[in-house]
Amino acid sequence: MTVIAHLSDLHFGAQKPVVREALLHVLTMEPPDVIAISGDLTQNATHREFVDGRAFLDRLRQPCLIVPGNHDIVGHRLIERFTRPYERWRRFVAEGLEPEWSDDNVVIRGVNSARPFGPYLNWSRGQFSPAQIAAIDRTGAARRSLVVVAHHPVVWGNDTDRDYDLVTRGEAMLAVLARQPRSIMLLGHRHRSHASLWNAEGGEREARGHMTARPGDVLIVHAGTACSDRLRGEANSWNRLGVCGEGVSVETCTFDGTRWTRVARLTLAWGSR
Ligand SMILES: [Fe+2]
Repeated sequence: MTVIAHLSDLHFGAQKPVVREALLHVLTMEPPDVIAISGDLTQNATHREFVDGRAFLDRLRQPCLIVPGNHDIVGHRLIERFTRPYERWRRFVAEGLEPEWSDDNVVIRGVNSARPFGPYLNWSRGQFSPAQIAAIDRTGAARRSLVVVAHHPVVWGNDTDRDYDLVTRGEAMLAVLARQPRSIMLLGHRHRSHASLWNAEGGEREARGHMTARPGDVLIVHAGTACSDRLRGEANSWNRLGVCGEGVSVETCTFDGTRWTRVARLTLAWGSR
C-alpha cells in the first residue's frame, strides 16, 4: 500500500496560518509515503509568496511532487509572463515543471497544465499539449497505478456554476489514461473536493462508497484548498489516498476549525484487468 497525501491550492499570500500549521502537524504525525501538490502554491506569484511557499515545502518530511497552477505564473508583469513565465518557479520550487516519483504500487507523473497565455480571453485556463499527452501514453506503469498530477479540471464533478474552463485536450488525456489498466488523476483549481470515474463510453459518474471499476475507467480526484482563505463553499481539505494492486481508497480530510477530520469517500476495486 502506498499512501499519497494529495494537497492543492495552498495559495501562499492568502494563507490561514492556523490551518497550515495543523496541516504540517498531521502530515508529521500520520506521514504519507509521498505528497502530491496539484498547483497554485502562490496567490500572485510574488517573490515573497514563493519564499514562503519554499519554506513550507522545506518543512515537509516526505518526498514531495508539485506542479504549477495558473496562480504560479506572474500576472502583472506581462513581459516576464510572456518571456520567462516559470522563472520564479524554477528559482524557488524546482528546475523541472513535471516531476516524477514511483514505487512498487504507483508511477506518479506531474503534468504542467498552466499556460502564460492562450487563444482565449481567460488566461487562467489550462492546456495539455499533444506532446504531454503522448508522453503519458508512453509511460510504462506495467501493473502499477499510473497517477497524473495536474492543476486544471478535466470534468465538472459536482460543479453547477462552472465559473472556469475545463483544461484544453482534457478528454484526449483521459482517453490515453483509459488505455492503462489502472489510472488516476489528482487535480485542483476548483477549491472543492470530489471524486469521479470517467469512461469513454459513459462519460463521468460520481465515485463514492464501495465501487468496482469497469474496464477503461479513470479515477479523477479533486482536492479542495488545503490551507488558504479562498474557500468556495467548503472548508479547507485535502485527500489521503491508499493505492495497492487491488484498488484505491480515498479519504477526504476536512478542517473543522481546530483539527482535521478524516472521512472515507471511496473504496474502489480495480476488478479483473
Ligand atoms: Fe487555486
